[in-house]
Amino acid sequence: MNKYSYILKAINQVELFSIELEKNISHTIVKVLTIERWKGNLLMKKLAATAMAGILAVTMAACGASEESTGDTTKKNDKVLTMGTSADYFPFEYIDTAKGDDIVGFDVAIAKEVTKNLGYDLKIEDMEFGSLLGALSAGRVDFVMAGMTPTDERKKNADFTDIYFQSKNLVMTKDKAIASDDELKGKKLGVQLGSIQEALAKDRYKDSEAVSLNKIPEIIQELNTGRIDALIIEDAVAVKYMDQDKALKTYEIKEDGPTGSAVAFKKGDKMRDDFNKELKKMIDNGDIDKLAEEWFQKEAK
Ligand code: ARG
Repeated sequence: MNKYSYILKAINQVELFSIELEKNISHTIVKVLTIERWKGNLLMKKLAATAMAGILAVTMAACGASEESTGDTTKKNDKVLTMGTSADYFPFEYIDTAKGDDIVGFDVAIAKEVTKNLGYDLKIEDMEFGSLLGALSAGRVDFVMAGMTPTDERKKNADFTDIYFQSKNLVMTKDKAIASDDELKGKKLGVQLGSIQEALAKDRYKDSEAVSLNKIPEIIQELNTGRIDALIIEDAVAVKYMDQDKALKTYEIKEDGPTGSAVAFKKGDKMRDDFNKELKKMIDNGDIDKLAEEWFQKEAK
């Protein structure tokens, strides 16, 4: 080894040392920055919490005042409308598991737009489909939006807006398609509790056994495991399940009964007319069609 190689080696070592040093420094910088960011977040959180507490106090004071003046104790906050729904109905209303337990969908998007235009915030209350109109009558929710069809029976206890979306009822089977009502004789027919499909099964398919369940995915599950032979479901919802499972077959029910979705309000609630006006605007200017396009092309959850 000559003296040049000693020098070279020494230079190398110095270089290695400085690289190490740089690494350490950058680690430290990253660490410091992370801690600072974390501290910053903490500060922001603290500030936000203080602000929220302030807002809450002001809102509560305002609510107290308005409650006193109207004597209405059912509504906690006049600027919030509570929508009752049954979030088992992709793509109308369903729980977006990617976002925790957010309820989203075509109906929710419409409700958000209409309530915003009317100057309200929207709160959503999820419950079983069969409990919705009871909750509405009891004042636990301000309106119901759940792909609900306005039937004469329901109109006795609720006022509906115009229909904002049309649909058809289908019989769905797995593997083997049916071609006539007759083939359902003696068969188990799954339907949602409290739905028009349940009424249809009981009135039209008297020779079949209606199996009523609470949630649509449960009914699909029963079909998959063969515990029921068929089910009745609306076309827009059926399509989504058929996208996922090619063995599902459908047969269209020809009927005169009411179909489609409308929004339900408590009998005599003037808000129904305001909501209806906004809804009409959205139907006329094509916004509802745009939302339908957006939500109906989403992949089923
Ligand atoms: N349109 C039918 C009815 O009114 C079914 C609606 C079911 N909706 C739901 N969110 N599961 O009975």
